[in-house]
Amino acid sequence: MIDAAGFKLWNSTAMGLYLTCLEPGEMLVEGRGTRVRDSAGRWYLDARSGFWNVTLGYSHPALVEAVKRQVETLPYASLWGYGRPASLAVETAAMLSPHLPGDIDMVKFQSNGAQAVETAALLSRHLHLLGGRPQKNAVVAMWGGFHGFGPGASALTGLPYLHYHAGPLLPEVIHVPGPFAPIGETGTPDLVRVVSDYGPERVSAVVVEPVIGEGGHVLGAEYLRQIADFCREHDIHLIVDEVTTGMGRMGAYTRSEQLGLAPDILTLGKGLTGGYVGMSAVCLSRGLYQQLLDAPVERFFASGSTHDGHPLGLAAATAVIRVLNEEKIFQNVQAQSLTLQTRLEQLAERHESVSAVRGAGLMFAVEFAASGDPWFTNKVRLAMEARGVLVAVLNSVPAIMIIPPLIVSAEEVAEIAHALDGALADLANGWEPAGPPMKGFV
Ligand SMILES: Cc1ncc(COP(=O)(O)O)c(C=O)c1O
Repeated sequence: MIDAAGFKLWNSTAMGLYLTCLEPGEMLVEGRGTRVRDSAGRWYLDARSGFWNVTLGYSHPALVEAVKRQVETLPYASLWGYGRPASLAVETAAMLSPHLPGDIDMVKFQSNGAQAVETAALLSRHLHLLGGRPQKNAVVAMWGGFHGFGPGASALTGLPYLHYHAGPLLPEVIHVPGPFAPIGETGTPDLVRVVSDYGPERVSAVVVEPVIGEGGHVLGAEYLRQIADFCREHDIHLIVDEVTTGMGRMGAYTRSEQLGLAPDILTLGKGLTGGYVGMSAVCLSRGLYQQLLDAPVERFFASGSTHDGHPLGLAAATAVIRVLNEEKIFQNVQAQSLTLQTRLEQLAERHESVSAVRGAGLMFAVEFAASGDPWFTNKVRLAMEARGVLVAVLNSVPAIMIIPPLIVSAEEVAEIAHALDGALADLANGWEPAGPPMKGFV
């Protein structure tokens, strides 16, 4: 084990254990296609796509070439000030816009997903203020949802551990139960009841993740339609957070488009650049954008950060859009999604430890029954790692997440399922990781 004192790098874990548990040789040094190599020379199938973002794999020639070319020609231009954005910013927005759902038309590039969600929430309040509705300032989100870290994003995230440690966060955030039990397509969402009781005239926006990453809960089309209708009726902006579900993960540009959902504001991130450069986007309808244009000049919507819409991110995004359009990626996601789901469900029947399989597209949760071992889920991850497959582990739900790159092949899906099958059998036979069981957790 590496001596903790030897590290100058720290990460965000509450327990401070992640790096201190790593062995020499475990840091990653190379990625090719769907696989990554550590410095000891071991290759792994990356079934968590980096941090759910490396959607097109690690060495995609189109992405590598686009970023390389951009760094040689114009490595930086500001989206914020002095009226000279990169021409590539205009081109990228024009390329993305036709693929956005409903009336969504305008694109503002930012730096990361949390920032995009915060911008969306503040933009909603700003628009209501401009419209003379200052009382409309509450933002509604779901328990169990994840929207990133930050005073606004953590507040909207429905995981209580994020609310405890650094409050007070963004005020006037209301959480409503998400659909954590299978819901009938006709059931009225709790959100409608809670917001009706609270007073819709005091609500600015509702933020939803169409598939909740933290556990793979899929919000049905009818459920979301009822929320959208309720929002429209009460002049509440519907913000759909597609940081994870957008840009192909569901087998389409957006989950909203797949479900016929028309958000007022949509956020993208992660796969927008295939993870090659950090960049996100806040997208809105021309109607809402017009309201910004019509505002008095001193009430402009101030939002931006030095590296927003970074030209390298824009270059990566243009390459991603070209690849999504030209390489039959969505068809692959749809095909491999079915294969993965079938294999996971078969596996659940064989292993008592699996209590549920949930998800859509290429984003599946495998949840485990209570085992009495607080580190069981992480041990599954470590046992899979020992078999050459990396998966994500959640810290609020006893589940692993399988989120492979969108280019994953049928053989690789079989490899993932086989590793999970073997890992669960290992654990049932008393397998224990060589290092501490919490290693790599969060
Ligand atoms: C749905 C959703 N929204 C927002 C975020 C935050 O994105 P970022 O990590 O880029 O800040 C995430 C990250 O996991 C996410 O899954």
